[in-house]
Amino acid sequence: MEQIKLDVSNVLGTVSRNEIDALSQDARKSLLKLTDHSGAGNDFLGWVDLPTRTETALLEDIEGVAANLRANCEVIVAIGIGGSYLGAKAVIEALSDSFAAYKGEGVPVLFAGQNIGEDYLFELQEYLKGKKFGIIVISKSGTTTEPAIAFRLLKDQLTAQLGREEASKRIVAITDAKRGALRSLATEEGYKTFVIDDNVGGRFSVLSPVGLLPIAVAGFDIKALMQGAIDFQKATLDGSNTEAMEYAMTRNALYRAGKKIEILVNYNPKLHYFGEWWKQLYGESEGKDHKGIFPAAVDNSTDLHSMGQWIQDGERTIFETVLSVMEQKHTVVIPSDEANLDGLNYIAGKRVDEVNKMAELGTRIAHVDGGVPNLRITIPALTEHALGQLIYFFEAACGISGYLLDVNPFNQPGVEDYKRNMFALLEKPGYEEQTAAIKARL
Ligand code: PA5
Repeated sequence: MEQIKLDVSNVLGTVSRNEIDALSQDARKSLLKLTDHSGAGNDFLGWVDLPTRTETALLEDIEGVAANLRANCEVIVAIGIGGSYLGAKAVIEALSDSFAAYKGEGVPVLFAGQNIGEDYLFELQEYLKGKKFGIIVISKSGTTTEPAIAFRLLKDQLTAQLGREEASKRIVAITDAKRGALRSLATEEGYKTFVIDDNVGGRFSVLSPVGLLPIAVAGFDIKALMQGAIDFQKATLDGSNTEAMEYAMTRNALYRAGKKIEILVNYNPKLHYFGEWWKQLYGESEGKDHKGIFPAAVDNSTDLHSMGQWIQDGERTIFETVLSVMEQKHTVVIPSDEANLDGLNYIAGKRVDEVNKMAELGTRIAHVDGGVPNLRITIPALTEHALGQLIYFFEAACGISGYLLDVNPFNQPGVEDYKRNMFALLEKPGYEEQTAAIKARL
């Protein structure tokens, strides 16, 4: 199997090889902290050996539940937010036919609970009326407001359509083994459940049932996905593959040289949500103590016609990490046209991907010349195996990078602040003092 590969040669005009290598000792120590659990946040390191630790029996249980849902439902709604949403969404989008929904192929996986959009929820409920649907409700804490609202609405709708007993057969809950409202509800209603391990944080949970069940329901090969991650885990931890360390070192060297923003760039629209997943992974892990690279993402060539101007010519505080997919699934050749009124005959006979690759290369040269260092990750093809590698690569690099930055990469204290205010404003029981304080400010 081919491997994903990292190339950092196009950052060397901004930081030298010596400046990157100066971080190698600390990077090695950081990697060690991930395996000997001596660093901050060491109670959330369950993801480090999750690929090799996951038993085939669990994967087969997930596949069995997925097959059952697919056999009995026309559509599945996966409810969750943040780490309980983005990994599954990213992998499903990367592997799916872009127009599967319109072609009526397979069992669509829709998402809810990732926003509090009233129209979104109304329109989803309308769409589900009279349809045989199932629900996968995912929340590690079991108490997150957005998915709890969506679940209450859709559970009521399913119960109204089928009755309580039948509805409970079409609901699968993924949550903590013991704690939280969702665990109590699942026990009470007799839902099939999967457990999110205590030591696996939300944004590192895509390779647990959190990501694997929706991905399997969407019809993808979770064993191949895990195999990609297993291969990358083993090579990273035994030191035979140092790319996660290299990525962590390079981005920290760039950060220290004043490059405060990293843009994850794709040239394949199927990777849009991979960028969203990556933004959460790095944003929530590193943005602490008033430090951290700001993670942004663009979809090229689309965004070359919008953000491209800023990237080429704006403030020089950015660097890019480009995801480049080597092989496409399909071949589309640009036809020749006798009249050539559109002037495109100069590329007639070329594959669309050849043009895309030249857009990528031309952009890289222009951006590097313009003072935007570029890292590049080549992905052999958008397959389960390659995505498994890529996920583990970014997770491992994130842990190493967070330690290089000297933050705890595995907590997210800042996420709680808005919740406190929202609960106070909604007059949630237990928040009376905050309610009074916040109302006094309005
Ligand atoms: O990474 C995290 O921990 C968070 O983004 C969570 O995944 C997110 O807040 C959802 O939490 P929960 O799964 O508890 O509903």
